[in-house]
Amino acid sequence: MRAQLERDAESWGREWRTDWPAHVLDRYGIDLSTHFLGEPIPHPIGKGSGQLSLRVDQLEADADAGLAFAVLKTVIAEDERGEQSMGAWAIHETKMRVERRAALDGREGWTVTWKGRGWDRPFEEYLALIRAARDLAASRGILAVPSVKYHLPGADEPFRDAEYRFTTRALEDAWGRGPLLLEKDFSPTLAGDARSDERATVRRWLAEVPERIRAAARGPLRLGVKLMNARFDDAFQREMLADAGGADSLTVFNRLWDANAGVACGGWDLSDRNLRVLDGALRPRLPLSGTGNICSGRMIVEYARRGCSSVQLHTFFQLPLSAYPAAAGSRMARALHALVFDPRDGLVATLLELEEQGTLARRGGRLHFRDLCELVA
Ligand SMILES: Cc1cc2nc3c(=O)[nH]c(=O)nc-3n(C[C@H](O)[C@H](O)[C@H](O)COP(=O)(O)O)c2cc1C
Repeated sequence: MRAQLERDAESWGREWRTDWPAHVLDRYGIDLSTHFLGEPIPHPIGKGSGQLSLRVDQLEADADAGLAFAVLKTVIAEDERGEQSMGAWAIHETKMRVERRAALDGREGWTVTWKGRGWDRPFEEYLALIRAARDLAASRGILAVPSVKYHLPGADEPFRDAEYRFTTRALEDAWGRGPLLLEKDFSPTLAGDARSDERATVRRWLAEVPERIRAAARGPLRLGVKLMNARFDDAFQREMLADAGGADSLTVFNRLWDANAGVACGGWDLSDRNLRVLDGALRPRLPLSGTGNICSGRMIVEYARRGCSSVQLHTFFQLPLSAYPAAAGSRMARALHALVFDPRDGLVATLLELEEQGTLARRGGRLHFRDLCELVA
């Protein structure tokens, strides 16, 4: 199988195909199927909310490459008059810099430096994107889920339910039939904001926001809460996991806040923190989706072994083309090629390695990615 993997890395690097999960099943007996927000998906790799999910053409390229799902850019909630209490997050900024970032221990990773925040175009255009994404999901099988930043009150303030109601119901109308799938973003810029200074305030948000969103919806809803990396210690970060128990799934954890530079950042410090927090946490009873410095199949496995049944990448889908081993194909195809077929650190290689070590066993002749989430790292 190792020799086969070397050959696949070569040939799939020259020519990529959308049906790559079927090949992985056929050649290696590895079943990558899993779930995100209660929906079955053919493999765990998705795209995190951000600048790479603003337009339909980006989603079409994702579908061509065989990405499992994408979370759309975060939109800022508004009421029926168009007022946004979180309007400071709807600022326009186009320039992104993909940069090297050294971790505290010196390991070189990648980060994207960007001063922007949420969706900065009219809400109507976001609704149009949801409708188009829904059509694409039906025709091409890529799941695309909206993301929202709702009003978050200060310590003694009430929630602005009008924003919750108007925004959630408009999303439901655009989404159409079936339960609305939705991610609620707690962002790094929020973690760096004065309103997150108080632990009690953050804990109140996590405890109350899921029920506010459910109360605002007219119909059924499956809610993912994307937790921020708060500026407090690991113990608090673990408490946040427990506080957000009203969600259907948790996305763990958004980028770090670099207070000196005044920007969000990623790299090895982000994955170190996320994995460490998950290691020490009581296993939450909710499904988890991992995010943060996932640049290899090996890192997907690290998150999976801490309970993440899917993963959401952003930075790795933005690297310079020279950083991917494949010489042809779209950026998304080249990224997936490295994540899956890299003979040393790809998903296939890492799963075969776990089998050799006796950590992961075949069932019915197959290795199942899903079984990883049951293992304790
Ligand atoms: C330029 C940029 C914009 C982002 N915008 C959002 C956003 O609007 N909403 C959100 O939930 N996460 C946002 N993220 C976070 C990503 O979805 C992802 O969770 C995070 O970057 C960690 O993954 P990574 O290390 O693979 O980049 C953004 C990230 C980047 C780099």
